[in-house]
Amino acid sequence: MIHLKIDYTKVNGFVSENEINAFQSRIDTAQKELLEETGKGNDFLGWVNLPSEIDENLLSSLETDAHEISKMAEVYVVIGIGGSYLGARAVIEALNHNFAALKSDRKSPLVIYAGQNISEDYMADLLEILDNKDYALTVISKSGTTTEPAVAFRILKNHIEKKYGKAEACKRIIAITDKSKGALKTLADNEGYKTYVVPDNVGGRYSVLTPVGLLPIAVAGFNIRKMVEGAANMQKQLEKSSSISLSPAAQYAAVRNALLEKGKTTEIMVNYQPNLYYLTEWWKQLYGESEGKENKGIFPAGVGFTTDLHSMGQYIQEGLRNIFETVLSIEKPHKNIEVPVDKDDLDGLNFISGKRIHEVNEKAELGTMLAHVDGGVPNIKITLPEINELTLGELIYFYEFACGLSGYVLGVNPFDQPGVEAYKKNMFALLGKPGFEKESEDISKRL
Ligand code: PA5
Repeated sequence: MIHLKIDYTKVNGFVSENEINAFQSRIDTAQKELLEETGKGNDFLGWVNLPSEIDENLLSSLETDAHEISKMAEVYVVIGIGGSYLGARAVIEALNHNFAALKSDRKSPLVIYAGQNISEDYMADLLEILDNKDYALTVISKSGTTTEPAVAFRILKNHIEKKYGKAEACKRIIAITDKSKGALKTLADNEGYKTYVVPDNVGGRYSVLTPVGLLPIAVAGFNIRKMVEGAANMQKQLEKSSSISLSPAAQYAAVRNALLEKGKTTEIMVNYQPNLYYLTEWWKQLYGESEGKENKGIFPAGVGFTTDLHSMGQYIQEGLRNIFETVLSIEKPHKNIEVPVDKDDLDGLNFISGKRIHEVNEKAELGTMLAHVDGGVPNIKITLPEINELTLGELIYFYEFACGLSGYVLGVNPFDQPGVEAYKKNMFALLGKPGFEKESEDISKRL
């Protein structure tokens, strides 16, 4: 049984039921390609069966290591970028206390991140904090050669070795990388670090249910078995049928492609809970890298309401009409606070006193959705009853599967990312990397 619901009635008037259903045969083909591994990029479909086939020994080992790390560290640094970073952060922030960093009664290490930028100030500030904290770190890179995490790891490796000595530092470092190749694998073997494997057939942005996501999530104190269970429930549900009337992934893939055909080239993912910010970031990578190629694809954007109603709300209501919204709606908060009554009522808000803050948020959500639809912005609504490990597992697998379907319907390979190499080539040419002499010469003429 799954908890996620999808409602696309608020795309009526922008695309018809017939126009959506016209995608059925392309969705059927896409689903067959995913499940039978016959489509483009079929050597990267390891994520499809990950939830149902996950190894019990792997889960136990991740839990044991997470426990060891929480005994030795008050801060846990996760080094990685893109698919080797966003999934873990999305889940940890969604499940965490909103002010986890300030909580003194934390039972698990505070997870912080490095290697997702090349900011010197960020790194200097991080080192300053780590000088005075007990910490452990995990470096994650499938290729083992990505510049940002490699630079961060060089610096943090020196720091942790200086702080604890080489032998103790070695116990505090885990590497997650390819099973046999790449610079990080070689380094980990040479240094004797514990390692976990990123499976060959799972790309970065689909790797949250591998150790890439699961180890940091477990260290943060969350139940990775529940998350995998949620994903497995969704997998079972989606494998049953590709019918647009039955499968939420088929619905989402068909509706967004139908909207694209109507000129809706930007999808804005909306949430009303600040702790879902990184879930949107993860979703943006998943859909942006999977679909944005061959001069095609819906541009994935994100907003957090009601915060951004006071900034981006104007554009969404009245700007260029090439957008649609997908609202991730959470039915039940975990906590309970009411708007207090005020005897002077100077702000005129006594009419909502006694109501839960969530009720106000819900009315903001409903009112905004209707206003945006009236303003020419079709809305899709994805609902979860609450945020927990089980529902997040469902949601993650839903988005991944729908992304595979949607990419195939669009006619692209949803599992490669050739375009991300272009900036790297220029950066290496500008930095004078050996082997890039010709590129260095060419680029210097353009400056
Ligand atoms: O989705 C992807 O493939 C990318 O975002 C990668 O995950 C990212 O570039 C990091 O790569 P790596 O894990 O090889 O360091």
